[in-house]
Amino acid sequence: MIIKSAMFNVPMYKFKARNHKLIKEYFQDELIANLPPKPNVDNLKLYSDYFGGIKSLGKEVYDLYQEDLNAFHIKAGFNTKLNWANKVHAWYNIGYEGHMQEEHDHIGGFPSTIFSAIHYVVFNKNEHTPTQFLNPIHSLFWGNTQNTYLSDNLPNDWQNRQYLPDVEEGDMIFFPAFIRHSVPMQTSSMLRATVALNINTHEAPNNAI
Ligand SMILES: [Fe+2]
Repeated sequence: MIIKSAMFNVPMYKFKARNHKLIKEYFQDELIANLPPKPNVDNLKLYSDYFGGIKSLGKEVYDLYQEDLNAFHIKAGFNTKLNWANKVHAWYNIGYEGHMQEEHDHIGGFPSTIFSAIHYVVFNKNEHTPTQFLNPIHSLFWGNTQNTYLSDNLPNDWQNRQYLPDVEEGDMIFFPAFIRHSVPMQTSSMLRATVALNINTHEAPNNAI
């Protein structure tokens, strides 16, 4: 018998945003109803307060994620006996047909972002494409082989350049901030909306177990 296992894996956490309904209502009433005529990020056909020049996500929305963030920290294994300082930056992304986001990661900030999250606020899995994650070791596999012209001939490990999470509206996913990702150009005329969150969890000063 041959047993295959993975030496390393990249964690992803998925659950239902507890206050999805309230957050979606906020989107409909406060953001979507008041969108300016043109996206503020013209080249991405995107309305996003990450870039400024548009109404910011209300601070009350941060509070609606607090339970989810607490649950995530416990599940991820942050020591519950310590005091953690949790700095969160959240922003929205709203787009119609043609909107996309180029490949990027969420590394940076001070203290550095360690995990990022996406909440699919308005999302129809039959119409929209989820975030597309890129395999961080794919280039190592690929650069290490010159033995065939057809990638179909290679083991699966060499082929999985991308990972598309199975998500539906209301889902929230957490992933390491270093994983590069993009949003493919959307072809549906239906609006798509997400909240992205950067989670800068770090040990608070004067901690003691
Ligand atoms: Fe992102």
